[in-house]
Amino acid sequence: MAYQIKIFSYKSPEYEKALVLRDRVLRKPLGLTFSAEELKKDEGDIHFGLFEGEVILACLILTRTDNQRMKMRQVAVDDNYQGKGLGKELSEAAEDYALESGFNVMFCNARKTAVPFYQKLGYHTVGDEFTEVNIPHYYMEKHLGISHQ
Ligand SMILES: CC(C)(COP(=O)(O)OP(=O)(O)OC[C@H]1O[C@@H](n2cnc3c(N)ncnc32)[C@H](O)[C@@H]1OP(=O)(O)O)[C@@H](O)C(=O)NCCC(=O)NCCS
Repeated sequence: MAYQIKIFSYKSPEYEKALVLRDRVLRKPLGLTFSAEELKKDEGDIHFGLFEGEVILACLILTRTDNQRMKMRQVAVDDNYQGKGLGKELSEAAEDYALESGFNVMFCNARKTAVPFYQKLGYHTVGDEFTEVNIPHYYMEKHLGISHQ
């Protein structure tokens, strides 16, 4: 079955599926759960999912910030599907969306373990390592409008 990328709204059935995936991939392994305050941030954001039929395999969130910069966050690929190009496919779809929407820069707070993934997508680190959700992170960014390889 072919993969399908969808944009869906906060609290939609697809959002609820993405939330289960985010919890399983991004929070449970750290012994954490989402707080209500954290989830409130999802409300005005743009939600992306990569689906095979009704099943969500990957998701991410875009947050609009001022001066044409978009933040990519909560990038999660189902454990059984990591390393198959899905994270790249979904991230590039989100970058295309941001560029078409008039944003020039995509940035993220990348887990140290995911830095090589973002580097392959053309992101570079800026500044020093910092801690978020108790693990090391780097701020990374990419100027959009440079064609995908
Ligand atoms: C990090 C993550 C989003 C990457 O998605 P993915 O679908 O597994 O990655 P892809 O298969 O699209 O990889 C694209 C490229 O990056 C490389 N890559 C991906 N993850 C990597 C890693 N952790 N270390 C080194 N290289 C990596 C791949 O080898 C591939 O390289 P290629 O184009 O030369 O073949 C995914 O593995 C994941 O959800 N991990 C756990 C949660 C997480 O860390 N999320 C990011 C939070 S910032």
